[in-house]
Amino acid sequence: MAGRCQIRTAHPADAPLLGLIERACFADPWTDRSLVEAIGSGQGISLLATNQDGVVGYLLARHAGGSGEILNLAVAPEGRRRGVGRDLLEEALRQLSELEAAQVFLEVRGSNAAALALYQGRGFRIVGSRRGYYRLPEEDALVLRLDCAPSA
Ligand SMILES: CC(C)(COP(=O)(O)OP(=O)(O)OC[C@H]1O[C@@H](n2cnc3c(N)ncnc32)[C@H](O)[C@@H]1OP(=O)(O)O)[C@@H](O)C(=O)NCCC(=O)NCCS
Repeated sequence: MAGRCQIRTAHPADAPLLGLIERACFADPWTDRSLVEAIGSGQGISLLATNQDGVVGYLLARHAGGSGEILNLAVAPEGRRRGVGRDLLEEALRQLSELEAAQVFLEVRGSNAAALALYQGRGFRIVGSRRGYYRLPEEDALVLRLDCAPSA
């Protein structure tokens, strides 16, 4: 895979493609059904990244009560380190800003150096942890927050 990606809104019908990436990325993956529900919830931001090889990554987020939450972000192993994760994150933050989110939260494994570098590089700060949040293997989650500048 090479070159930049295009980002579009994901639809429930895309869930099987997202599921392929989900299972390639996580030991305890979301089911296709949970992906369909998240994409179709109507409360969320569902983004899909494609390049010339097809779907290469996705991001799911939601917005409620003035806060945003990144629920899931994954890039296919063969498509990594080409800016896809950063592009998906930027587009989600742009859309959350349009929805006037004052801050954006997410959880990440403390051992996930790649994701932590991406998020902290974008300005997210560690604000807490959740004990035993993850399975396979069990691990605490770090809670990260980004304070958003009010839109002009
Ligand atoms: C985390 C993930 C989404 C990053 O996607 P990506 O497309 O490879 O990331 P990008 O190419 O946009 O990288 C953006 C920045 O993230 C950081 N980064 C990404 N991968 C990294 C790695 N393996 N090691 C260290 N830093 C890394 C770097 O700061 C990078 O900037 P740089 O390339 O200018 O150095 C991807 O590794 C992934 O899908 N991992 C498995 C699923 C996962 O952990 N999701 C996050 C759950 S919270």
